[in-house]
Amino acid sequence: MATLATTVNGLKLPNPFVIASGPPGTNGKVIGRALDEGWGAVICKTVSLDASKVVNVQPRYGRLRSRHTQADGSNEIYGWENIELISDRPFEAWIDEFKALKDSHPEGVLICSAMEEYNKDAWQEIIGRCEEAGVDSFELNFSCPHGLPERKMGAAMGEDPEILEEVCGWVMEVAKKPVWAKMTPNVTHIEDPTRASLRAGCDGVSAINTIRSVIGVDLETLRPEPTVEGYTTPGGYSCQAVKPIALRMCMEIATVLRDEFPDRTLSGMGGVETGEDAAQFILLGSHTVQVCTGVMKSGYGVVAPMKEQLLAFMEKHKFDSLNDFRGHSLQYFTTHADLVRRQTEARAAKKAEHEKKKMVKADTEWDGDDFVDQSDALARG
Ligand SMILES: Cc1cc2nc3c(=O)[nH]c(=O)nc-3n(C[C@H](O)[C@H](O)[C@H](O)COP(=O)(O)O)c2cc1C
Repeated sequence: MATLATTVNGLKLPNPFVIASGPPGTNGKVIGRALDEGWGAVICKTVSLDASKVVNVQPRYGRLRSRHTQADGSNEIYGWENIELISDRPFEAWIDEFKALKDSHPEGVLICSAMEEYNKDAWQEIIGRCEEAGVDSFELNFSCPHGLPERKMGAAMGEDPEILEEVCGWVMEVAKKPVWAKMTPNVTHIEDPTRASLRAGCDGVSAINTIRSVIGVDLETLRPEPTVEGYTTPGGYSCQAVKPIALRMCMEIATVLRDEFPDRTLSGMGGVETGEDAAQFILLGSHTVQVCTGVMKSGYGVVAPMKEQLLAFMEKHKFDSLNDFRGHSLQYFTTHADLVRRQTEARAAKKAEHEKKKMVKADTEWDGDDFVDQSDALARG
């Protein structure tokens, strides 16, 4: 009987489906709900020591819908931009909720997403205080593409491998629990920040955060969306539409892990909505799979069909555990030049096989349809 249970950096998860940092983990009540619904782990909305600096705007989401109308009259959402900041709730409230969650859900895996300014004391304080409150591990948010970079936080750090390595080093000096560094996709080579965080000792990486985007322009008002008092700012793109980019980046990170850091882990995300999506991230080397926008579209209950779909995939291929297929598909990536070489060889082999087949060796092999080809094959000149 196949199992979804998995141990990642020592954390025992009933399944690999993790609530990604964002609205679905925005307070203790909803985190408890997610654990009750059977999610493998929950990452809280990113917390910081001084939430008074975090001021959100409304509206802060923009969505793209399919042009094709579904049977129920709706048009499916496949792209989602947000200009939401990290949590605007006081740090002390979070600490109380972490403690309460570990009392009410002692088995539930609670991961704290943390972000601070470029300040060693602040990073070490936030890690220490959250550990005291009982969280099971950390995800460091180096990847929010909007708002926070103006304070040199989030993606401003994640885009600079040197700063990233230094900040991860500060965290690793004090952290006793596992730490994942969350990567921004808004870089040319995601391998560089990946290596920087792993060199600093992080236990794993998460990828991807949202992609810097402009969701569209309203053709009546001529204002870009989402419009706040007539203006906007570029935001972060998520949902189904980003999955191909997320898969490519996870593949690149997993290749670095395989070749250079085999004891570290990858938490993959970006557009996951089904168990089949998750299977693809795991085939490309992810140990866990996170979901944010999928929960905002369909609710916490989506984890049940996701688990069923992933198990059905595993049973079809006779995989007993996630270890049996994690990273399996990485071996099929190569260079374009190698694709050309392989295709030239395969075509030549096929042609030779065809020629061989046409060469009549006994009179019973003559065939009405191939008669001319067979005659040709036997002829010289
Ligand atoms: C509305 C919204 C808010 C988000 N807030 C955070 C956040 O506070 N911290 C963080 O690390 N990522 C945040 N994210 C990014 C998600 O965790 C995730 O990396 C990204 O959305 C891609 O996954 P998805 O396609 O499943 O949503 C947010 C995403 C959305 C849509």
